[in-house]
Amino acid sequence: MMGPGASASAPGKVILLGEHSVVFGHPALALAIDRRMTCHLKPSGSMRLNGFPLDPERNPHVRHALETLWEGGPLDIRTESMIPSGSGLGSSAALSVAFVGALQARQGESDPEAAARAGFDMEFAAQGRASPLDTSASAHGGGVAIKSEEEEGHLWTLERDGKRWCVHDIPVPEMTLVVGHSGVSAPTGPLVGRVRSYFDKSGFAREIVDEMGAIAQEGEAALKAGDLELLGRLMTKNHKMLSILGVSTDRLNKLVDASLPHSYGAKLTGAGGGGSMIALTDKPELVCDAIARHGGTPYAVRTGVPGLQTEPPL
Ligand code: MEV
Repeated sequence: MMGPGASASAPGKVILLGEHSVVFGHPALALAIDRRMTCHLKPSGSMRLNGFPLDPERNPHVRHALETLWEGGPLDIRTESMIPSGSGLGSSAALSVAFVGALQARQGESDPEAAARAGFDMEFAAQGRASPLDTSASAHGGGVAIKSEEEEGHLWTLERDGKRWCVHDIPVPEMTLVVGHSGVSAPTGPLVGRVRSYFDKSGFAREIVDEMGAIAQEGEAALKAGDLELLGRLMTKNHKMLSILGVSTDRLNKLVDASLPHSYGAKLTGAGGGGSMIALTDKPELVCDAIARHGGTPYAVRTGVPGLQTEPPL
């Protein structure tokens, strides 16, 4: 079917609390950030991605979405990203959501919930295991909390392998976050796998995962109350637990330690193994300076940004 082109964009995210433990069904908090992925589609003689023939093996997300969601003819897919890949800032989820959004837009639709659900399937297929945290934050925008029960602000619930994630909208208070990129790109799948094997082998690892869930739950109340001091303390505690689980690195620890004297709290964000850390602060210049002096790349990110958007709007 030939027809008009379509575009959609979706934001990256930072995880405030609960990465990895959320994969086991525990609570978590994530905020969309002002770095977006845009996906343009137009009809084409053959399947192409960014000017090259589409290699389904190297792009399992795209292959999965095409197999499950697309009945039309070949597409020329182009992506434009402001989110470094492997940075822990949700580039993969934003690609999944933006791609589904562009497929929707081509059919005259825009449905963030359907994009979050399809995006989760794509991440699960590509990563081997995943939670719906990143794709939900990207599709919905603003802030999302994963809880075990449906409460006020409920958006959608996803279930997989006996786990249940109730995704909620949460208001995002005024606050300043600085991101520090370690300069190392780290794919999520192997890190999720590593935590899984530690969890399967060790009661201690299972206790840590439970504790991270409790911290995220406490953090949600702190965020709601605008208690940045408590939220910061919980972030730093969460970082220590992620380190115990083996997903932090010396570079990330160095950036976290360098940020702490000027921050309410700091932690790695996303899967770890490289990627980025975040600091919650009201002294962003000092934190940016400290991160740069310790070999990281700092940037201030804006939160409270929209989720999936078709371009132009439908
Ligand atoms: C990655 O951004 C977050 C993880 O918890 C994986 C996931 O939730 O799918 C590590």
